[in-house]
Amino acid sequence: MSIESELLPQALEDAFALPATFYTNPQIAARERDCVFARHWQLVAHVDQVREAGDHAIAEVAGVPLLIVRGDDGELRALHNVCRHRAGPLATCEGRGAKALRCKYHGWTYRLDGQLRSAPEMEGACGFDASAIRLPQARVAQWQNLVFAALESPPAITDVLAGIDARIGAHPLASYVFDRRTRYEIGCNWKAYVDNYLEGYHVPHIHPALNRMLDYRSYTTTLAPWHSLQFSPLESADALYGNGDALYYFIWPNIMLNILPGRLQTNRVVPLAPDRCRVDFDYFYPAGRNDAAHRTQDEAFSDEVQREDIAICELVQHRLASGSYTAGRLNPRRESGVWHFHEMYRAALRADA
Ligand code: FES
Ligand SMILES: [Fe+2]
Repeated sequence: MSIESELLPQALEDAFALPATFYTNPQIAARERDCVFARHWQLVAHVDQVREAGDHAIAEVAGVPLLIVRGDDGELRALHNVCRHRAGPLATCEGRGAKALRCKYHGWTYRLDGQLRSAPEMEGACGFDASAIRLPQARVAQWQNLVFAALESPPAITDVLAGIDARIGAHPLASYVFDRRTRYEIGCNWKAYVDNYLEGYHVPHIHPALNRMLDYRSYTTTLAPWHSLQFSPLESADALYGNGDALYYFIWPNIMLNILPGRLQTNRVVPLAPDRCRVDFDYFYPAGRNDAAHRTQDEAFSDEVQREDIAICELVQHRLASGSYTAGRLNPRRESGVWHFHEMYRAALRADA
């Protein structure tokens, strides 16, 4: 079977998972960078990092380093963090209140809107015109307290997120405050991690403690054009989350919002190599709720679940690469989220054919 024939749409009831080669092949990984990561919204920062003029965060989208910066005019921009002189970095970490963006290599200095302001000792360069030089800009969008960027014409962010605000009404996420980030490097293809996230089918087998909190029989998956929602009622100790709803949003192509009573955790899944990815967990809590015990328990429990997921994803990656397996049938009742992800993925790669 050719790669292209594997990209045809499939109906849920007939669906197979993506074939193993999609999880191992370096050429597919290069194609994904252009068709998936450059053309769709990526989570790059949270608003707390970029509230005032000159505040900035760094991120990378489809291999392009970006500088997310608030301008003097109040505009939020996603500038390429690549100096126009000889590709030096304008920033290597986040920062506050910069008056200008000075390249770390030879000191060319840009305004916060990306326009080159000065280039030391360039007087002798014939026809050099600083006013004609500016940092390229990616698209940027903001929702709740999250900042997204995209390199090329992505779908409208309002379409991507349509319906989420109405569903999460009781959680005023925009008032939640960033607390901390935890990073995990995982020995699997980024899609193997996303696939695993998108079904609760494995919960009784892989996550004994989580399984006691969720209600597997009531676990549902709802599909939207660009995202999906897994929902379960949740019962846990008061010191952890108490009782309420567990909402697990997946936003194409690699963003997760895990909303439990009193906390938001975002995940972004970053490909590092065909068989490696990194997942960044950011934790947010309602402003004013400074409950250290709750945060410690939340982190410990999330980490336990994550370690269980990492272990199974790495075992799966090894088997995807073994040559023993091509592609298996999906469970229409329990794996509609995986099917939906694979359909969006196939469509994204078809657009490039
Ligand atoms: S590379 Fe930026 S000033 Fe030289
Ligand atoms: Fe899991």
